[in-house]
Amino acid sequence: MSLRKKFVAGNWKMNKTFIESSELCKNIKQGLDKKLTSDVDVVVFPPFTSIYTVSEVFRDSGIMYGAQNMSYKDDGAMTGEISASMLSALGCEYVILGHSERRQYFHETNQIVNLKTAKALSSGLKPVLCVGETLEQREQGLHVKVVDEQITLCLKGVCAVDMENVIVAYEPVWAIGTGKTASPEQAEEMHRQIRNSLENLFSATIAGRTRILYGGSVTDKNAGELFSMNNIDGGLIGGASLKHEAFIQIINSAL
Ligand code: PGA
Repeated sequence: MSLRKKFVAGNWKMNKTFIESSELCKNIKQGLDKKLTSDVDVVVFPPFTSIYTVSEVFRDSGIMYGAQNMSYKDDGAMTGEISASMLSALGCEYVILGHSERRQYFHETNQIVNLKTAKALSSGLKPVLCVGETLEQREQGLHVKVVDEQITLCLKGVCAVDMENVIVAYEPVWAIGTGKTASPEQAEEMHRQIRNSLENLFSATIAGRTRILYGGSVTDKNAGELFSMNNIDGGLIGGASLKHEAFIQIINSAL
């Protein structure tokens, strides 16, 4: 038995109205054996507009929820932004930071993700920090270097104690939403590398304790094999988390 509890998260991205979200959550709650949530951390990341509804449906269920993004500022003139305290007030436990879609379409740099990580941690939110290389970077043999740099820059200034609350998600950009999954061996190799980076930055103990999720076209068909790898501690699931049957199946394969 690994010392790291498995973690399965659903990133809904820009999908589901609050009414649809309520339906999906009811189905997840109904289909999930409650005992399971003590063996696996189950977290969903709905759009901001659904968080309150999700919090109501999941009350006392053991299923957790969080947000897909957050501002690094506390409050003030930041039109369109959402703060850490707004998320905490809704009962969010986690926040996804540095997702490749944020990096790609909204120009989030490692420096911005670092500011957000610091703000989340000081506000009591647990970041799910996303890293991963593009296809071009992999083809040029730069994947290890790029991911090491992302880890190093995004976690700059984070102290060892706070690392207890950080989850890392390795999501190769070429595998996100493409139906093209990294092979279990390719993913395992990168997860080992990430643990290496964490050991260099912090310590072997922290590297050994940090949960590292795989993301990128995880489905109910391939989850079992991916989650059985030594260094893969669960998944960050996009498309397949929008259907309760598939999501429940994926959670079950984390046991
Ligand atoms: P996908 O997305 O499962 O649809 O590939 C994963 C993610 O972006 O978190």
